[in-house]
Amino acid sequence: MNEPVGYVYSWSDQYIYVLITSDIYKPSIGDIMYVKTSDRYVLLQVIGYEGEVPVPPSSIVKEPYSKPPLYSIAKTMYAKTILFFEIRMIKTETGEYPVVTKPTQPPSLDSIVYLITRGDSESEKIMNYLSQGVKAVKELSEPVPVAWLRSGVASLDILRREKYFENAKLLVDLKTIVPKHILVTGQTGSGKTTSIMGIVTQWCLRSEPNISWLIIDRHGEYSIWRNNSFLDLLSKAVSLNRNMDSLEINVYVLESSRESFEKPNQFINRLTGSIDLTNIDISDLASILELPIEQISELEELVNLVTNLFEVVKDSNLLPIEWVNVFVKDSEGTGNLLALIPLLVDNVIRYEGIGEREKKGLYETILRTIGINIHRLRMYRRILLSNLSLRIERKNLKTQTGYETISVIDDSNSVFKTTILVKNPWFLVKVLTALLSALNKIRGTSSPVLSKLKILDSLKQDENILQKLYGGSINLDNVVNKLNSDRSSIVILDVSKIPSVQADIVVMSVLRRVFEQRVYMGVDKSSMLPKLAVVSEEAPLYLNPEKVSSPYNVFARIAREGRKFGIGLIAITQIATEIEKQILANFNTLIVLRTKHSSDLNYFKNIGIPSETLTSLGDREGYLYTSDLSVKEPIPVYIPGYFDYIDYITEEYSKSVREKESFEETGRKVFSIISRREGVKQ
Ligand SMILES: Nc1ncnc2c1ncn2[C@@H]1O[C@H](COP(=O)(O)OP(=O)(O)OP(=O)(O)O)[C@@H](O)[C@H]1O
Ligand SMILES: [Mg+2]
Repeated sequence: MNEPVGYVYSWSDQYIYVLITSDIYKPSIGDIMYVKTSDRYVLLQVIGYEGEVPVPPSSIVKEPYSKPPLYSIAKTMYAKTILFFEIRMIKTETGEYPVVTKPTQPPSLDSIVYLITRGDSESEKIMNYLSQGVKAVKELSEPVPVAWLRSGVASLDILRREKYFENAKLLVDLKTIVPKHILVTGQTGSGKTTSIMGIVTQWCLRSEPNISWLIIDRHGEYSIWRNNSFLDLLSKAVSLNRNMDSLEINVYVLESSRESFEKPNQFINRLTGSIDLTNIDISDLASILELPIEQISELEELVNLVTNLFEVVKDSNLLPIEWVNVFVKDSEGTGNLLALIPLLVDNVIRYEGIGEREKKGLYETILRTIGINIHRLRMYRRILLSNLSLRIERKNLKTQTGYETISVIDDSNSVFKTTILVKNPWFLVKVLTALLSALNKIRGTSSPVLSKLKILDSLKQDENILQKLYGGSINLDNVVNKLNSDRSSIVILDVSKIPSVQADIVVMSVLRRVFEQRVYMGVDKSSMLPKLAVVSEEAPLYLNPEKVSSPYNVFARIAREGRKFGIGLIAITQIATEIEKQILANFNTLIVLRTKHSSDLNYFKNIGIPSETLTSLGDREGYLYTSDLSVKEPIPVYIPGYFDYIDYITEEYSKSVREKESFEETGRKVFSIISRREGVKQ
């Protein structure tokens, strides 16, 4: 039987003051108390305390320190609380069920107040009612228990047993809330990453494969492979859930100088390597370039011009068709063509002469048809090289009369690997010769550099080195296909080992393709695919007010209209209010963990989160607020980290391994009996 802790003593504004009468209980911020009436429970949450010892005139206190001066003088202590929830039972033909609402009236003065206490049967019952009552009114189709209700703050691990109600789970239908975007916010160390890992683990354990996940791993936390790591538990969880038989976990670790493939178990594919630049195009780059829109379109025009030259090269058979395909795919310039542009500046334009009289050839064409002058060309050259982390290397070619210097690309420090055709000077000479010949053909302007290139091209050279035309081992189209397939999968994109500019290009490229493919498919067709959850840390990096104004920002586009196409963001941030206001309002689910940031505290207070409690929360303790529950109020929860499931998963997993072994053992025995009989017959 639960002991009362006090009485409702007074009301003032929205606060309910509880006079504490218990000798052993002192109110603690975040504690949940209840008042029981004939037909309902009213839940109160402690957001502060007040108390005083009425001080007697000093004349009475003769010897203040020799004996307790306040002996026999009444002390008062109040818990300052707010109305939290009201739970009542509703009877219908099918039975009785709890309904949870936001209370509109205070409990009567003088009501007895109890503390929600683990182990007390009434408290357990109330928390279970709360768990059932906050669910959406209609039964959830595929509920996933993402959190445990909590009745206070466990400042020490040992207190968790008193405050967390593991049996009163918060169930949500992830596939419904994902496309409406989820924001996870809290200061560093508050548990954002480990909570999300916990939620994904639960999904693997309990759900149908109705979501695909793209986890952008900026710090290399999700892709760690060792015993009891997130990835380890995830694959065990998948193996325990029969629905997930066909789920694949694909881990891509991007690195500039290592290529490998591992398959640590049947569910995980782990590919380490670099990206083939053929897969990147100017639109991918546009999303990260901090250029005015006019300059981006100018750069696009430049790419188009060179693309057109390649079309002529193709039509006139000036190069093998496979070579042209390296630079132009589906009539669009590839990343290899982007890598070629700086080489056009260095090897061709530089020698054409840029003064008024002598200019003719490629530079003249660029200047006349698109109006890009040499200064801008040099700027674009620098931008392309630095963003793709490519370097120029100067090579000397031996000729009959001496040496010719030619600039080629060095991609050794980049995660983007380009084609041998721009890295090897002899192949590059062929490409440049073909392009200038094509230019001559269509514009009748002969570049002064063409004759020099032709001479070089005619020299005998070693052709044997052309073994492979393409660079890196990871093809972004494959990544995209996994995410837009009917079969759901988990893709972890670990970009922690490459510089952030390269990481941004990779991330934006994958996401833009996934999004545009779904837009192209249309709303109806995309709705047949599994929903896509894009888990991304450091959300303000791309969702801040300045960044969201760019039409190329795919994160902002997804935040605004991803829902129609079944794509939702799970954005993780230390400070929510750094995200642009309108975009922030698009997040229908908020997971708010510990924070001391004042503008965030204000923001959360306005949406009904008792912000007084936010500063003192423990790791992964917080409020979950989602428009999808029947109660549109923040629910106090503990979101278990992935490691909270270690015991359960390990036990179930070894059980399943044992079962499998004994099944195989039985199989072997049966087989040997049968074969013995067969043997007898023969
Ligand atoms: N395997 C584990 N077992 C127990 N506790 C852990 C484990 N891994 C992490 N934690 C604890 O969880 C807490 C929160 O970690 P988490 O990385 O989720 O925070 P975060 O909010 O993502 O922080 P940041 O903003 O710095 O990324 C840490 O204080 C850490 O001590
Ligand atoms: Mg983190």
